[in-house]
This record gives sequence, C-alpha cells and structure tokens, in this order.
Amino acid sequence: MKFSLAAIAAIASLLAPVVKAATPDDWRSRSIYFLLTDRFARTDNSTTATCETLYGVCSKTTVEDHGRLDYIQDMGFTAIWISPVTEQLPQSTADGEAYHGYWQQDIYALNSNFGTAEDLQNLATALHDRGMYLMVDVVANHFGYAGAGDDVDYAIFNPFNSESYFHPFCLITDYSNETMVEECWEGDNIVSLPDLDTESTAVQNICLTRSYDNEDEATANGNYEPVDGLRLDSVMEVQKDFWPDWNSASGVYCVGEVDDGDPTFTCPYQKYLDGVLNYPTYFPLVRAFESSSGSISELYDMINEVKSDCVDSNLLGSFSENHDNPRFASYTSDFSLAKNALAFTILSDGIPIIYAGQEQHYDGGNNPYNREATWLSGYDTSAELYTFIAVLNQIRNYAIQWDNGYTTYKTYPIYQDDNNLAIRKGSDESQIITVLSNVGTDADSYSLTISGTGYTAGEVLTDLISCTNVTVDDSGDVSVTMTGGLPSVLYPTYKLVYDGHPC
Ligand SMILES: *[C@@H]1O[C@H](CO)[C@@H](O)[C@H](O)[C@H]1NC(C)=O
Ligand SMILES: *[C@@H]1O[C@H](CO)[C@@H](O)[C@H](O)[C@H]1NC(C)=O
Ligand SMILES: *[C@@H]1O[C@H](CO)[C@@H](O)[C@H](O)[C@H]1NC(C)=O
Repeated sequence: MKFSLAAIAAIASLLAPVVKAATPDDWRSRSIYFLLTDRFARTDNSTTATCETLYGVCSKTTVEDHGRLDYIQDMGFTAIWISPVTEQLPQSTADGEAYHGYWQQDIYALNSNFGTAEDLQNLATALHDRGMYLMVDVVANHFGYAGAGDDVDYAIFNPFNSESYFHPFCLITDYSNETMVEECWEGDNIVSLPDLDTESTAVQNICLTRSYDNEDEATANGNYEPVDGLRLDSVMEVQKDFWPDWNSASGVYCVGEVDDGDPTFTCPYQKYLDGVLNYPTYFPLVRAFESSSGSISELYDMINEVKSDCVDSNLLGSFSENHDNPRFASYTSDFSLAKNALAFTILSDGIPIIYAGQEQHYDGGNNPYNREATWLSGYDTSAELYTFIAVLNQIRNYAIQWDNGYTTYKTYPIYQDDNNLAIRKGSDESQIITVLSNVGTDADSYSLTISGTGYTAGEVLTDLISCTNVTVDDSGDVSVTMTGGLPSVLYPTYKLVYDGHPC
C-alpha cells in the first residue's frame, strides 16, 4: 500500500488538510451524480441480486471496481458524491443496518464494507484521471449507537470516547426550536445518535486541527489525491458558527444539508458554508411538475426569492431527488413531467445533483423505498431518462465552455402561465432560454410567444431538445412550439459550430 494508514485514515475522516484543492469556483461548472455506495454496484457485478432487506447492507464494494464509472461519465457527469466512508455501527438493528453511512463510530477508520484505503485512493485517482471530482459525505453532528437513549458505551467511539464529548441526551421533538435542534439528539430509541458537543473546544480541536505529520508524509509521497469536495450532513443540527472554521480547514468546496424549504431560514447558512442543498427550490420544483395542476407561479417566485436570500444561487446544490425524499416518479409516472423536472434541475442555477436511479425512472417513495439498488436496472444506457440527462448535461457543459459568464449568471424567469415557465440563463448573445411545461406527455401541441429573451430580431435559434430551428420575430419575441409536453431549450444556432452539442 502506498500510503500510511494514518494518512489514509485522515483522508477518511476528511479532517486532514488537502492538496490540489478544488475551490467553490472550480465546482460551479460541475455536474454531480450522487450514489449510496452500498446501492450502486456489486463486487460480483451481478445485476440481479436483490437487497436481502430494504434496511440491510446490500453490496460490499467500492465504486470503480466494476467499470461503472463509464456509466456515470457517459451521462455527462463531471463529479460523483458518495455516501459517508467512515466506520459504522456493525449491528443489525430494528432500524436496519448502517448501509447508508450516517451512523459512524470511528472517524479514523474506513467502513470495511467498502474496501480498503487503497480502494478509496484508487477511486479518487480513477476519477481524476477522467477529469472528474470526488465529493464525500461527512457527518459532523453525531455518532451512531445501537441502543436506546443515552444507554451508550462511549468508550467504543474513536476518537470521541467519552460522554464529555457529547451533549446530554434529549431527543429533538420541536424542529422550530433552534437550541433544541442544535443541542438535542437526532435518531430514536432504537439507534441513538449521540450528538457531538460542537460548542466545546475539545471537539472543535479534534475536528479542525490538522494532522500536519500526515500531510507532510502524504505530500512528500507525491501520490496523495484528496477528495475534492464535501457534502455535510445535518448542518442545522450544529450551531452555525462551527461551520466557517470547518469549511476553511477542509480546503475544499463544502455543500451542506439544511433540509428546510424556507429560503429565509436555509439561505443564511450560506454565510457559513460555500453552499447548501437547494431545498427551498426543491419543494416548489416537484410541486410544479408533478401534475398539470402544479403551481408554476410558486416556482417562478422561488427562483427570485432564492436569488435574493442566498449569497450565491450558483453555489447551491440543485436537485429534484435524493435519498431522503420520495422519488419524482413516485408522484407521477409521466416521462415528460420527469424530463421537465430534470431540465430545470440541470439548466437553472447551481451545481446539478442527480441521484442514482433517477436516470432509470425509479419510483421509490419515502426512505428506505427510495434507496433501490441501481444494478437492478442493468445499467441500461438506452433508458429514456439516461439519454435525456446526457443531453441536458451536454447542453450545460457546452454552454459553460463557450460562455465564461454562464456559471455566475443568475437565472431569471421571463414567462409564466398556468402550465408553462420560461427561464433565461447565460450572458447576452449566449443565453439559453429553457421553456418548461407541466401539461404531460399526452397533451396536444401548442405554441407560446416568449418575450424578454434578449435575442435580436431575425436571429436563428435551435431548440436543443428537438433539434429544430426557430427565428426570432421582428419584435424580438420567440414563438415556441411545445410538443408532447417536452421542454424546449433554445440556443443561438450560430454558436453551434463546435463539437459537443446534441444537434
Ligand atoms: C466486474 O466487471 C469489471 C469491469 O468490467 C471487471 O474488471 C471485473 O473483473 C468484474 N468482476 C467479476 C467478479 O466478474
Ligand atoms: C427550546 O429548547 C431548549 C433546549 O431543549 C429548551 O430549554 C427551551 O425551553 C426550548 N424553548 C422553547 C421556546 O420551547
Ligand atoms: C438550423 O439552422 C442552421 C443554420 O442556418 C442549419 O445549418 C441547420 O441545418 C438548421 N437545422 C434545421 C433542422 O433546419
């Protein structure tokens, strides 16, 4: 093995300094595929093995062992986010096993279900060789213990091996009480989630003090490939002023989970972290496209609210599915509606995050049903949403390549009616107009007249979804034909001179 165990443990804990660090600006242009390591691929390459139980460990594996990085990269993704890598509680409990990685007991050891330190290193190297980034999920708020309440044997934890590192036991019962959310414990009376006393300097010193010996060793070795970004779990369960030091100590882009839909609550966390997951947009996004009676105006208004309340809407994580919420297809099986939700996710502000299985139109409901094994799809690269996501990523990657301002330009909505929304993103002359609809697959074709596009009269545009042209009329308006409920993505035709666009 090329690296000392200590150095690798430091990677695993992600408390170590990193080199060749990817900054928030480096991340703006990225598109992320998010997977639970345990549910994505199997060491035996099986595509038929069932999860023994929805709550159990299903795959003992690392990701790159299976040739499955092609599956991700061929969809146009430029980064992956994997579930936590630290050592977990080993038992099977009435709440299931710690397959998801959110019940850690040792932050200096890797979860042995997912291979060795060398495997993790190889994953980082394999991604970097492809020009892709690795983001790892990290939990700073809590540990996990199979037991009720504070009946916890703290001595088994590493390094927080005594009760003094934790808040006194109390379960969070009122999420509107910020003190309680920060000081009491998540979890239940089956699996305790002892809540680190992140206000204490003892905890902060362990979390934030770098292990310089390891850094020297790793740097001298020359082969130390760090993770490029962190997804931080349970951010609002930790006091806000803990996060800036963590963020700067990590040296990489950090995006935090604040799972609250109120932008006036969630956006302020971006003063403490590079980014947060865009929950304020997530809820109206799903509601807008889950049926033809979904509210377009709510989503239209939220675009503007998030822009004004958040520090930078382009450093938020933009998503329409994850492992904590029912999948989009659990609300509707309509493919056009799913495509509209995807088009908004990838072509509006922020760093898009697509959750493994979304490309296969998985339809699981609440946790754990939304954590289906990806291998059961056979990794079908001709699946309708797989190819559609590939087109959307291609459009975004193309726009970024030919417009320096694309990833800092803040989307604004330019049109709405009961069933349609148009948004503009990108510098003048390079702007993309995305026209979205919730009428669904079976609707008749119709035309919309869109104003305020910024295009000039007579200019020829190409709809990058249908690969048809449309000419801007004398007053600068664009007449868009909407067919089969599909989105339209307009882009100046004369800019399509390079390879890498879908038409
Ligand atoms: C699984 O597939 C990968 C990539 O094709 C291959 O390298 C590996 O040997 C396979 N493993 C097994 C157990 O067949
Ligand atoms: C909020 O929670 C704290 C800690 O549990 C408690 O002391 C306080 O009384 C609660 N405040 C309200 C308004 O309920
Ligand atoms: C769209 O316009 C471009 C430039 O005039 C042309 O090369 C292309 O063939 C047109 N595409 C279609 C589908 O008409």
